[in-house]
Amino acid sequence: MDRESYNREYPQHMDMRKKVAQDKNRLKFHLMPPTGWMNDPNGLCQVNGVYHVYFQYTPFLAGWGTKLWGHYTTRDWIRFREEEPFLFPDCDWDRDGVYSGSAFAEDGKIHYFYTGNVKLWDQDYDYIMNGREQNTIHVVSTDGLKAGEKKLVLTNEDYGSDMSKHVRDPKIYKRDGKYYMIMGARDAYSQGCALLFRSDDLEHWSYFDRVSPKEPFGYMWECPDLYDLDGQTILGACPQGVPKSGHLYQNVYQCGYFPAKLDFERKEYSLGEFQELDKGFDIYAVQTFEDERGRRILIGWMGIPDADYSYDTTVEWDWIHALTMPRVLSFKNGKVIQQPLPELEALRKNHTSATAEEFGSWEPEDCCFEFQVTRENPEKPMALALREDVTLSWDGQVLTLSMGASGCGRKTRTVELAGLRNFTVFSDTSSIEIFLNDGEETMTTRVYSDSLCQKVHFLKEESKSNVEAWELEGFQIQWK
Ligand code: FRU
Repeated sequence: MDRESYNREYPQHMDMRKKVAQDKNRLKFHLMPPTGWMNDPNGLCQVNGVYHVYFQYTPFLAGWGTKLWGHYTTRDWIRFREEEPFLFPDCDWDRDGVYSGSAFAEDGKIHYFYTGNVKLWDQDYDYIMNGREQNTIHVVSTDGLKAGEKKLVLTNEDYGSDMSKHVRDPKIYKRDGKYYMIMGARDAYSQGCALLFRSDDLEHWSYFDRVSPKEPFGYMWECPDLYDLDGQTILGACPQGVPKSGHLYQNVYQCGYFPAKLDFERKEYSLGEFQELDKGFDIYAVQTFEDERGRRILIGWMGIPDADYSYDTTVEWDWIHALTMPRVLSFKNGKVIQQPLPELEALRKNHTSATAEEFGSWEPEDCCFEFQVTRENPEKPMALALREDVTLSWDGQVLTLSMGASGCGRKTRTVELAGLRNFTVFSDTSSIEIFLNDGEETMTTRVYSDSLCQKVHFLKEESKSNVEAWELEGFQIQWK
């Protein structure tokens, strides 16, 4: 779909906008597609004060289709503008989708790199080892609104003869004056890995090396990331094909990172143990960027492909999926710590403060709230009802998020903790994000309640604890 056909089709789909507007599960303080389908966040960056959030987008279909890059901008994370889609699948290199990619801003220019997806139909293909072009395309913009000419920088030929045709999702990392591009890959033996390319000028790229874990870890890595955080190099990845193991890897695909040592001179790499970024149901394809204040901010797709609980009621209202809240990252005691972006505090209204004992029950408007609990005895059990059939319970060792019918097939997710010192729940109409122990762990899930008149109340709290809670306003979005 090129820009012209999008513009031509757009007026025919105004009814979708009306339908989306009527859905009570429509999110208030999360970015969701204006209509249709959203998946990975792409091209995150801040330039001249403006944050750009692009995303995988199928505007006229609440299902899997050919991807464009949708686009929102904001200066404060409260007031947003829906911009025109930024990239369209409009050339031979990306005709079946402008797939995921990233932005790298330098010297007044934003350099975008993304995967142009091309599927071949002339023969019977397995679409793993053959039948697919995964082109790496470079586009420059000065304002983030108007994309320059597309330039093809890498093709299947450049990825190595022992690679499958699943190589994608470029992200840029700069070290010692050189640019490195990391891509996620599946090799010919179905081992997941990352490929590195190098450039002096962001225009010309050559193969640099492959980074693999010591032991095989999944058959494919999607959406890799590479960044330095408080002195630690982090290699982010979404591995597919990792089996469940106790409380770990409970989702169909994983989303996390390896603390990494990458010696580019010697081409020696060592990856520490993989850590999941979030223990909830709906998290994938996270991407980070450094903003103009030097903060490393993460946003994820609040969804996941191929889950068996993938029925989302919003499809009836012509939209599906959303992005997580933006989270500020730091690295402490061997772990990436995630904290809600402080700008979102401006959404707070109607403050409630009480001990857990006095708290009673609370019915925040439209289930939109922030709920912070600080506990004196981290080992003592606790259980909290977040909605009639959604509970968070802590038995001194394991914290469990349980969902009934409102989970639409999502049932339980668990995380082991040394203690539960504090937690904060952000609830939107149809999502819940939980930050545990100052952001050492998080749990993110979608939830679809028939009624948004729901009570928050403790089922049990054996520790002395304090609650600070607020109802939350929605984002102000200027629609097209
Ligand atoms: C991850 C992903 C990426 C790909 C994009 C396509 O969710 O599969 O690997 O680039 O989505 O929409």
